[in-house]
Amino acid sequence: MLATLDAREIAFRDDVLAGLSAPIPALPARWLYDRRGSELFDEITRLSSYYPTKTETQLLRDIMPDVAARVPKGLAVVEFGAGSATKTPLLLEAIAPAAYVPVDISGDYLEQSAAELQQRFSRLDVIPVVADFARPFTLPGGIEHLPQLGFFPGSTIGNFVPSSATDLLRQFRALLGPGARLLIGMDRVKPVERLIAAYDDPEGVTAQFTLNILTRINRELDGDIPIDAFRHEARWNDILSRIEIHLVATRDARFSVAGSSFEVPAGSSIHVENSHKYGPRGARLLLLAGGWTPIAEWSDASQDFSIVLAEAQPERFAP
Ligand code: TRP
Repeated sequence: MLATLDAREIAFRDDVLAGLSAPIPALPARWLYDRRGSELFDEITRLSSYYPTKTETQLLRDIMPDVAARVPKGLAVVEFGAGSATKTPLLLEAIAPAAYVPVDISGDYLEQSAAELQQRFSRLDVIPVVADFARPFTLPGGIEHLPQLGFFPGSTIGNFVPSSATDLLRQFRALLGPGARLLIGMDRVKPVERLIAAYDDPEGVTAQFTLNILTRINRELDGDIPIDAFRHEARWNDILSRIEIHLVATRDARFSVAGSSFEVPAGSSIHVENSHKYGPRGARLLLLAGGWTPIAEWSDASQDFSIVLAEAQPERFAP
């Protein structure tokens, strides 16, 4: 049978085949979020050991009056990612922008959440854009004359290695233009036990979440990966200041995906995600390297998570 693959399926297949053939096998984390994966991730955000979502949401609530006082009126807010049903309304309510532009690769989810927001904020111009925000794209017409605020919560910046994170920040700057602001959430370095617990919960939800990518590959790419031959592992890499998520083979695993054969020997792994953690100076340096000057920053009392407001200042002649 000749199966016709759409662009997304082709991209998934190409990413998986390239990743599994790499010297250090890896699968791009964005493929973790199919329907089941998105449900499981939602469950992760409610786990008691997964502190980032709760901490950032409460922090946003606390700082909003302060943020509102530091940004111009009548903004266009551009959110990188479809937006969270709890975090985004906090921002929209506090700063009453003129337009809200959520940018997400997943069209279905984006349309739905944009429609819900439009209903809740009837006077706001909600303009969803289906795009991969990690690649260059253009903003919809009609908002060029408004002051711009990028919104990038969730510590998603931490899922990019620093060189790609810098590229991404520079691209946001090019998109939003000089004078724009960026409100960004960044997770902090903290004791290893707490970090590991957040990425390897006792309930095993995170393990199900990462193993689900193998189920998805088997289903969508005609694979026969023996899922019971892999176990979820979260490791702290101190030199690179990041949590790494691996699927470790508990025995030699031989399988095929989309007609190609692979072997993962016992004890070696498939790397599926990184989550970089930043100290206050590291966070500022990353932003500066990406073309954004920090102008205010906030953290919760335990310093678990930080939110930074930065500005795309015009480049000046530097010594
Ligand atoms: N952006 C989230 C984070 O880095 C994503 C995430 C949370 C995640 N838990 C995970 C990704 C487990 C892979 C595996 O915190």
